[in-house]
Amino acid sequence: MNSTVKYFAEAKSRGEPIAMITAYDATSAALAQAAGITNLLVGDSLGMVVQGRDSTLPVTLDDICYHTRWVVRGAPESFVIADMPFMSYQVSVEDGLRACGRVVKESGAHAVKLEGGTNIVPLVKALVDIGIPVIGHIGMQPQSVNLYGGYGKRGKSSAGRTKLLDEAQALEAAGIFSIVLENIPHKLAGEISGSLVIPTIGIGAGPECDGQIQVFHDLLGLQPDFKPRHTRRFGEIGQAIVTALAAYADEVHRGKFVSK
Ligand code: KIV
Repeated sequence: MNSTVKYFAEAKSRGEPIAMITAYDATSAALAQAAGITNLLVGDSLGMVVQGRDSTLPVTLDDICYHTRWVVRGAPESFVIADMPFMSYQVSVEDGLRACGRVVKESGAHAVKLEGGTNIVPLVKALVDIGIPVIGHIGMQPQSVNLYGGYGKRGKSSAGRTKLLDEAQALEAAGIFSIVLENIPHKLAGEISGSLVIPTIGIGAGPECDGQIQVFHDLLGLQPDFKPRHTRRFGEIGQAIVTALAAYADEVHRGKFVSK
């Protein structure tokens, strides 16, 4: 494997920014690995970009096991992190241990990601104790969309800022190897990054994070009409697919393309 938990710590101490991307199947995982991106997250964003739902909330543990298995298969040299879905780990430490253990055993994931702050500290400690690496996720937490009434920035007030700084410290002390900072003020992301030994991975959190993560479909423009503010498109693949499919359909309709 090209990347391990150790890589995250070493990259930060070398000052080398960490590139991460989501993947949901063997093809996207193999393409990412071929591009040299070997830290892959099977995000519960699959609920929105693969299943076409309005939020990540309906994603199940079965869904995460299923997609993670194919990502591990498609990118055997990569470090694959499974995103634990809503209500698979929030009820009790025992539930969380079983759910995370199941994902690791059934899919071959190398680590799990958990959204949450001090509330998940006991679970993080229990997972690390049994050998399952955990990456945290604070700031805008998509699984709490109903509580906040949307996907807006977090940590803008002074209380919000203090809470995020405290949560990051508590999670690091509990044993996470890295932490995703989603949609928080750039200055705060810089402060958090400077206060932690482990690397921060930003999405909508500015340039002072130790790495960046993006959703595969957003980065490549696979949904041409969806342009989140935190994404820069590195390709217009959605439009390229529509153009290619339209050319295929046109040739079939005119009798020009016949499979031989
Ligand atoms: O589910 C996901 O894709 C994520 C990333 C955006 C961090 O949580």
